[in-house]
Amino acid sequence: MGLQNSKTLYLDAIKNNYAIGAFNFVNLETLSAILDAANELKSPVIVQCSTSAIKYAGIKEIYAMVQAKMTNIPVILNLDHGKTFEDCKNAIDNGFTNVMIDASSLPFEENIALTKQVVEYAHAHNVTVEAELGVLAGVEDEISASNDEAKYTNPVQAKEFVERTGVDSLAIAIGTSHGIYKFNGEAKLRFDILSKIEKLLPNFPFVLHGASSIPQDKVKLAEKYGAKLKGANGIPETMLFEAATKHNIVKVNVDSDLRISFTAGVREILALKPETVDMREYLKNGKKYVNEVVKEKIEKVFNSANKAK
Ligand code: G3H
Ligand code: 13P
Ligand code: ZN
Repeated sequence: MGLQNSKTLYLDAIKNNYAIGAFNFVNLETLSAILDAANELKSPVIVQCSTSAIKYAGIKEIYAMVQAKMTNIPVILNLDHGKTFEDCKNAIDNGFTNVMIDASSLPFEENIALTKQVVEYAHAHNVTVEAELGVLAGVEDEISASNDEAKYTNPVQAKEFVERTGVDSLAIAIGTSHGIYKFNGEAKLRFDILSKIEKLLPNFPFVLHGASSIPQDKVKLAEKYGAKLKGANGIPETMLFEAATKHNIVKVNVDSDLRISFTAGVREILALKPETVDMREYLKNGKKYVNEVVKEKIEKVFNSANKAK
């Protein structure tokens, strides 16, 4: 099975009411923790690197690590938030099977033009493309119905965007945000906007960024051993479950949850065993908590366990 693009996987996710977790990794420990969890639960999975993760770990090293860990579950290797054509070309030329071109901060016509350019190159190389329309709220922004409506993805524009670019999936803005501080008040996602978009683009795959739930047990554990994460909060898992099972959200991006969990694990061992200088001891514990969180998402939130074909 191994590495593949998003085409058949996203269609299956729509048909069978689940979403595929897209987990960010930056090293062998995080990659292994994610893939071990997906393997154990027989779930398709997306592993992804941002351009800064690529700068940190090296693109050839990333591809080699992923290849070395392939088993018989389907895996997409995705470029997260590519900003330029060159970012996407570099990922495609180095074995990534899906790329995201994030031109959402550009004017509509420029977003279309850049996305089209990436789609053309990607499709010629059997690689699928995700684009983004709408603006995800910034860290600590209050997301509420009264907030600037213009930030959310415009359903009519979404239809035009998909038709004119030929993109394979679309990241939409319905109230999620990146990072570990997502809501000032009550958590709210605009499922009404999502439904309007889905009506105009039936059976099209959509993506949720900024979808960490910020598990409070891991936050507390990290804080117990010195982390300062006051007020960290995420998207309630019930909302993510609704997005994954009742809507055509096929890819849910998670990075912050893994960062918090890994940090908690490393801090725990360093605090409990101040005499240790064996990196394996604390990295192993970070990995264990990342693995735990990924398994929980797959089983209880994304409904993707046993969906690997
Ligand atoms: O959405 C962004 C991801 O969380 C990656 O963040 O650029 O710090 O690797 P990063
Ligand atoms: P979180 O910060 O909510 O984990 O979002 C990650 C993400 O969207 C990566 O592209
Ligand atoms: Zn993102």
